[in-house]
Amino acid sequence: MTVDTDAPGADSRNRFVYVTAALAALNGLLFGFDTGIISGAFLYIRDAFTMTPLVEGIVVSGALAGAALGAALGGYLADRWGRRRLILVSAVVFFVGSLVMAIAPTVEVLVVGRLIDGVAIGFASIVGPLYLSEIAPPKIRGSLVSLNQLAVTVGILSSYFVNYAFADGGQWRWMLGTGMVPAVILAAGMVFMPESPRWLVEHDRESKARDVLSRTRTDDQIRAELAEINETIEAEDGGLLDLLEPWMRPALVVGVGLAVLQQVTGINTVIYYAPTILESTGFESSASILATVGIGVVNVVMTVVAVVLIDRRGRRPLLSVGLVGMTLTLVALGAAFYLPGFSGFVGTVATGSLMLYVAFFAVGLGPVFWLLISEIYPLKVRGTAMGVVTVFNWVANLAVSLAFPVMVAEITTAGTFWVFAALSAVALAFTYRFVPETKGRSLEAIESDLRENMLGGSPDGSSAGTVSDDD
Ligand code: BGC
Repeated sequence: MTVDTDAPGADSRNRFVYVTAALAALNGLLFGFDTGIISGAFLYIRDAFTMTPLVEGIVVSGALAGAALGAALGGYLADRWGRRRLILVSAVVFFVGSLVMAIAPTVEVLVVGRLIDGVAIGFASIVGPLYLSEIAPPKIRGSLVSLNQLAVTVGILSSYFVNYAFADGGQWRWMLGTGMVPAVILAAGMVFMPESPRWLVEHDRESKARDVLSRTRTDDQIRAELAEINETIEAEDGGLLDLLEPWMRPALVVGVGLAVLQQVTGINTVIYYAPTILESTGFESSASILATVGIGVVNVVMTVVAVVLIDRRGRRPLLSVGLVGMTLTLVALGAAFYLPGFSGFVGTVATGSLMLYVAFFAVGLGPVFWLLISEIYPLKVRGTAMGVVTVFNWVANLAVSLAFPVMVAEITTAGTFWVFAALSAVALAFTYRFVPETKGRSLEAIESDLRENMLGGSPDGSSAGTVSDDD
């Protein structure tokens, strides 16, 4: 990704964009780290406290429920307080949550810590993509926002390493407490970062917005962009009720649909249960932990591929290729589990399919969902709308995490993966029919498509959002 390399002052503008993006992406790192760390820590927490199965479930899934709450509040707060301030608040909440978990004297306190941490994860999951999309110049917006997803995957991978590092002696308090470190860096860094220019204009601080834009845009670009922002603000009346207006429906359908489909196609059964799945294919415990690290690495590497391709190829192609791949690998995975006995070959097919499945998720549905929901909502309700959609994502995540063990018991592992395969095929049809192409367009141009009822994928396979390259 490059920004205005030949314009005057381009170097410092580029640097500013990258520094801002890197910092805001720390938010994503915390999201990934704090969701991933429990898989390892839980093995030792189980020995440290006496817990009923229900309490065990709450310790593991409590953060997901907290995240749903955080997303619900976070959208509203991002619109009220501003994006930057909410990132600062989320860093503080991350810190407090990690501290409470690390020193928890009883399991009750631990659960409180998990919930607090979950609220921070919920805040982070919406405000990171939101802030990045509003700071980014349109041509590289896809890559910049996807840095957030890249940070999520790096966070998950680091949590696997931290788990491994503290596994000797079962130091679960250190595992959970490590989350305090990136939280401090994030808070310290954000103090120096600016507010989103779009939020500033909306709150009548246009000269401040001009300042912020001047750090990433040329004078001509600033003039054009401010005019566009002002136009979309004047055209609206704002408020949560806007979400229910008929003209908003296509954006709501895309957001909620992808939010649910991102989860019900099974990604987190792999992220949270990979060692268990791998063990049942005949791996030793230690080998399955190593293979889990392998899955984490594939997730990171393929997200890098998405970051590079997303502004060149567009959102729809990446999503489609990813979903075709996910469908096929899930069918293969189910077949491997269906065959009687795991001989070497079938075990290899299972592990290979699992890795490829994660690769296809990482190149499509993983980053594209978060990117699209930061692009398709009108400015006045962007935070609130992302909050609503993200709540669906966390609730679906929680539901699948709770349902997975039950599904395996009821319809077998093979049956479970085939259900995920069928849902991936549904997601593919959904993408073809409803998902718009937003590549290269300004957020204001996307908004005007929505108002004119031109947002959306189309049955003939073309997409109404792609006609012009108007930036
Ligand atoms: C999803 C998370 C998932 C992660 C895996 C994200 O896009 O929202 O639920 O754990 O990707 O990389």
